[in-house]
Amino acid sequence: MTTKQESELLTRVGPGTPMGNLMRHYWLPALKSSELKPDGDPVRLKLLGEELIAFRDSSGRVGIMDHRCPHRCASLFYGRNEEDGIRCIYHGWKYDVEGNCLDQPNLPPHQQFRDKVRAKAYKAAERNGVVYAYMGAADKAPPLPDIAATHIPESEANIAFAFRECNWLQGLEGDIDTSHLNFLHYGAAGAADFAPTDAARFGQIRRDPEYQADEHELGTIYGAYRPAENGSTYWRIAHFLFPCWTLAPFIAFEHYRIARAWVPVDDTHMMFVMIAPKAGPGSVPVTERVLPNTTDFLGRYRLAQNAGNDYQIDRAAQRTRSYTGIEGIHQQDQAVTESMGPITDYSFEHLAASDRMVMITRRRLLAAAKALAETGAMPPGSGVAGAETYGRMRGGYFLAPETRQWGDVYRLQLASVQTQGAAEAAE
Ligand code: FES
Ligand SMILES: [Fe+2]
Repeated sequence: MTTKQESELLTRVGPGTPMGNLMRHYWLPALKSSELKPDGDPVRLKLLGEELIAFRDSSGRVGIMDHRCPHRCASLFYGRNEEDGIRCIYHGWKYDVEGNCLDQPNLPPHQQFRDKVRAKAYKAAERNGVVYAYMGAADKAPPLPDIAATHIPESEANIAFAFRECNWLQGLEGDIDTSHLNFLHYGAAGAADFAPTDAARFGQIRRDPEYQADEHELGTIYGAYRPAENGSTYWRIAHFLFPCWTLAPFIAFEHYRIARAWVPVDDTHMMFVMIAPKAGPGSVPVTERVLPNTTDFLGRYRLAQNAGNDYQIDRAAQRTRSYTGIEGIHQQDQAVTESMGPITDYSFEHLAASDRMVMITRRRLLAAAKALAETGAMPPGSGVAGAETYGRMRGGYFLAPETRQWGDVYRLQLASVQTQGAAEAAE
């Protein structure tokens, strides 16, 4: 049971909150690189409850900063993005991407104090089409997390952003809740709807998996398992990785190169970010339709199917051929997680054995946030040493001999794909 106090701690991400402080130890995916053009329009965005702008300067560098000008707080969103900086339209003060004040043209030279003024800028970094923000103490920014999918070249990647109107953890928990798959998404499907060689068909035969779940150095892992054929077991393995990543198992393990982030925008909104291959056996299509972005702080990547139109639920289809009547896997997830309210009332829940991963993930997050608040302990995967450990994690589904112990299943499967990968690299 998650108490009201624990719920507050898990879901509040603003400045000074324990979870907000934890989040500020990591790089967070913030925008698509393509949203920012050199000397182009600044973009409003919100992250961890802070209203920000992002812009790309004349040299191509990205700036992410508090939208308020440090002079008299006019919004830099209206600023002139010109000659390697953003110039406030109120009195003309100008800042570079690091927040340095470059110009105070409304003051005579002897009254200027450029070296004493800084815009509240955060570190920004780009990798393969995604802009990341680091909102912690600037001198401590670690390397970007070494998640396999983030190394897919932009031209070969599907990069999807989707805004969701609920707390970040609520969204994330939907991705580590494996037993919903064969109801919400495939409730009307049978094993015959899957290729005879696709192990995922066993999820349609047994819709009541058992779970193993454990904590690990970067977060948590679950293995959901059920009997398959010839004495083998059908495993689905997934991770939660600090602070808000998941590796969900909807692709075969050997092809897995997907990263999914559930980025806290503020306490009651989040941005889903997925990076996956565009083509090949591990590819993931992007099916959600998004509305045109607006310039609002909460105006990017809103779905066309949303609460305002009941996700365009088709009740006739629900009665005859679709479990939900809602088109699209992501939209189905969005509908149920938003339907819980902006922040789930955890005291109303009745968690079951199928929610073990949800339970241990909350526990892991609570412990890390409390340890940071009470002793200053660096949260898992943060800091310079943490970044590279992300590359060792993989999710996905596969068949394994039934005799294997849970602890060995993941290690052996990982070793086998690594051996295969090394052999392919050597060819
Ligand atoms: S408020 Fe921005 S220059 Fe004065
Ligand atoms: Fe789902």
